[in-house]
Amino acid sequence: MQVCRTINEIREFTDRARTVRKTVGLVPTMGYFHEGHLNLMREAKKICDCVVVSLYVNPLQFGPREDLAEYPRDFERDCALAESVGVDAIFAPDDDEMYPAGYNSYVEVSGITDKLCGLSRPGHFRGVTTVVTKLFNIVRPDQAFFGQKDAQQAMVIEKMVRDLNMNLEIITLPIVREADGLAMSSRNVYLSEEQRRAAPVLYRSLCAFKAAVDSGERDVAKLRRGIEEMILSAPGAQIDYIEILSVPDLETVNTLTGKCIAALAVRFGKTRLIDNMVVEV
Ligand code: PAJ
Repeated sequence: MQVCRTINEIREFTDRARTVRKTVGLVPTMGYFHEGHLNLMREAKKICDCVVVSLYVNPLQFGPREDLAEYPRDFERDCALAESVGVDAIFAPDDDEMYPAGYNSYVEVSGITDKLCGLSRPGHFRGVTTVVTKLFNIVRPDQAFFGQKDAQQAMVIEKMVRDLNMNLEIITLPIVREADGLAMSSRNVYLSEEQRRAAPVLYRSLCAFKAAVDSGERDVAKLRRGIEEMILSAPGAQIDYIEILSVPDLETVNTLTGKCIAALAVRFGKTRLIDNMVVEV
């Protein structure tokens, strides 16, 4: 596995792959890998001849009071894990390589970024769409892989690719969970033992939501209240948002119809966890 620190190095690597007609897959990440990341890499390897993983903790998508400085990092372990699932190259630039002095260009998707995490994390999606556009331009992948864990992020990127005629396919893969249902996240390491025990309530509340939908409930306010009551019963849980919206436009709905997402963000102490469930009726 090749480790590239500069844009020139990774460009040479992917250019070489393309000259021998290999397809290129990209898995954008911020590192500190868990099964959620590794699953994206394995699936990428099934579809693409050559898989590039970008590992870059993008400062542009963190708010001033967020966890950029504390974000967990372990580069050696990440490289070993990526290599073990057959990744061909890691692209791990530093901040000067991505945003040199005088950097001034940004990509913004409006509309669907005004909801959910866009409300609680102003500027977050602008940071994501900017860095992802740069990564697409640098690596020029045929396919790029994202996780349903960050459902809004995947929708925003799909919209950006459509709106801006970017020439690649976005593949979104299911949420990978711990045995007790907690969605895997690099941020789970922040949880205390007690918070970790309480955190699976997010998934349980989403399963109860799905069960209610399966048994015929269509009243969105009622469904939302069901999720809320369950989460508030968990010790230390502070709700950031619980929303049930249409997919893929993220419009408000009063009666559940078509494809909808229940999305939630909940804080345990300083740790903010997100999870979601898509239903179709
Ligand atoms: P990061 O949080 O490292 O996640 C990288 C990718 O892994 C994302 O597409 C995310 O949705 C996916 N992922 C994380 N946990 C998952 C889980 N439990 N199951 C399935 N997929 C999971 O998301 C980012 O980084 C950044 O915003 C990035 C897109 C790299 C831009 O900086």
